Amino acid sequence: MKENIIESTSLHTNESTLSSNEIFREIILDYYRNPRNYGIIENADIFRHESNPLCGDDLELYINVKDNKISDVKFIGKGCAISQASASMLTEQIMGKDFDYVKKLSKQDVLENLGLPELGPARIKCALLSLKVLKYGIYLYLSENLKDSENADKIKQEALNLY
Ligand code: FES
Repeated sequence: MKENIIESTSLHTNESTLSSNEIFREIILDYYRNPRNYGIIENADIFRHESNPLCGDDLELYINVKDNKISDVKFIGKGCAISQASASMLTEQIMGKDFDYVKKLSKQDVLENLGLPELGPARIKCALLSLKVLKYGIYLYLSENLKDSENADKIKQEALNLY
């Protein structure tokens, strides 16, 4: 996952002189300043809005599902660089993927995208806000549209356990 994001991101810097921490910092800032998949989808199949109560940052996620795959995904939000970059990276990661892949995404996947494997308790919420929104959105879709209460409850619990 790290390699994919590094390859797909133009840093406009001389990478050979940067440490991996500096590269990931540049990548986070690039996603923050130029968010991919930013916007809304009218009448999306999945919509979820969540806030981080400690800072007031928030995120709205819109997803369309077709043939058991994510056919489109967008987000809007306001917040710190980590929360917004994390959301943008997550939308790229799930675009076109099947539903089973998306359901399995974990905290480690998100932290790996950001290149931030060790974050303190405050910043971990910034990084995982988008995953929480995604898991709640999938939970609602499974329970309301697919009537799959067993998997829905599992995903809801995963969302609750993130932080
Ligand atoms: Fe609010 Fe990061 S400071 S999500």
